[in-house]
Amino acid sequence: MLSLNYAHCLSDSIGIDHGLMEPEIFGLQSRLQEAHNAVQRMGTSGKLGFLDLPDQSAEARRIMTWARKTRNSFDTLVVLGIGGSALGNNAVQQALRSPYWNLKDRKDRKGWLRLFVLDNVDPRWTAELLEILDLRKTLFNVISKSGTTAEILSNYFFFRKAVEAKVGVKKASRHFVITTDEQKGYLRELAKRENITSFVVPGNVGGRFSVLTPVGLVSAALTGIDIGQLLGGAKAMSQRCQSGSPKENPAAAYAALQFLYYQKGVKLSVMMPYSQNFWGVADWYRQLWAESLGKKLDRSGKIVNAGPTPIKALGVTDQHSQAQLYMEGPYDKIITFISVNDFGHKTAIPPVDKGHYLAKHTLNELIAAEQKGTSSALTKALRPNLTVSVSEISPTTLGELFFFFEMAVAYMGELMNINAFDQPGVELAKVYTYALMGRDGYDAQRQELAEMERKDSQGSHGV
Ligand code: PA5
Repeated sequence: MLSLNYAHCLSDSIGIDHGLMEPEIFGLQSRLQEAHNAVQRMGTSGKLGFLDLPDQSAEARRIMTWARKTRNSFDTLVVLGIGGSALGNNAVQQALRSPYWNLKDRKDRKGWLRLFVLDNVDPRWTAELLEILDLRKTLFNVISKSGTTAEILSNYFFFRKAVEAKVGVKKASRHFVITTDEQKGYLRELAKRENITSFVVPGNVGGRFSVLTPVGLVSAALTGIDIGQLLGGAKAMSQRCQSGSPKENPAAAYAALQFLYYQKGVKLSVMMPYSQNFWGVADWYRQLWAESLGKKLDRSGKIVNAGPTPIKALGVTDQHSQAQLYMEGPYDKIITFISVNDFGHKTAIPPVDKGHYLAKHTLNELIAAEQKGTSSALTKALRPNLTVSVSEISPTTLGELFFFFEMAVAYMGELMNINAFDQPGVELAKVYTYALMGRDGYDAQRQELAEMERKDSQGSHGV
């Protein structure tokens, strides 16, 4: 069961200038209850579909049955997605599969597929991925909730052409599945027109909350992950999030801590797993936190330009990169460690030199000592830090983690009085890109960009 320890955020540990008093946290009780009620109301009125996902076990079974059949025809799955349509795929894969999964042969993978997630339009990465794929044995999952995202459609067109060249135009569609909105968008039309197998992203689940929909579940199932257990873990966390009390609800407690520090001017939120398997979770969290909480307007329409900046760091690697700053730099960070009790491997440090202090220890002991050492050092330097612990790395604990952070961000949005479920700030760059790529209907933006370019020439050097 996931646990949360925030002793190192309290004034007893880090003093009254930098620490919180328990009454401050419990003083938020009524606001947290209101936040909880607001989130529940949005759920009941059908606006917050992510709350219902832990109960979708029938959907998980359908996907699993389909995956068992489909894997026989392919050896590799390529996910084409971006943002909320890609990060969950990576987080699940990195957490639950060996980092060397794609190098294993099919027998070692028990017939499940290799997985590549392409979430960029870097010309080189796309072209070089094509070079290593055996297209006859490759399935592409084209994921886009809107079904219109330029990055995804471009990569789709690129691989579609290549597949057609390899297997013929008639058979090409069999190499694609589409995960998109039930009704609208280019991809939904395409799925209908070409009878391509498709999955639905529920309209009331935002991209960054969609990991437990087919967006994340299809690639998980095709790589042999028990997606029923993933939902089971989320369900267990959902049951712990049934009241607004920070004593009972760990996500409410986490939101309270983050909110209180944000109000004190601690604007940077570091996520630092001490498990490389959870590195993808830190990446996923970074988007969840940034897109949900970085907002210009509050709910009343007032300009607030709010939002903590999420930062990802990796234990122990970033002790040798970031720790100096966290220890001695500005007092502007709260650090969340993710800690794992059982790594599933016990890796000995052999006594090559019997007299060496490391002899007879394990890497498990070393990573645990490094985490404790870092947490203690930060505490001594009066830096707030807290630990989210899970017993093991499993679909169940991963499901718990996903749902925990999703609930926390929902509460945080309510406490900050902003809408955590939209992303208007992402739009303008998309619109400018359409203008630059010659899309019809964007003449005004093309003119605006031309005007900007004239001004830009004044600030260039070495061009
Ligand atoms: O969380 C979000 O809403 C975004 O990150 C989207 O997932 C991202 O922009 C991709 O959009 P789409 O899934 O519509 O292609």
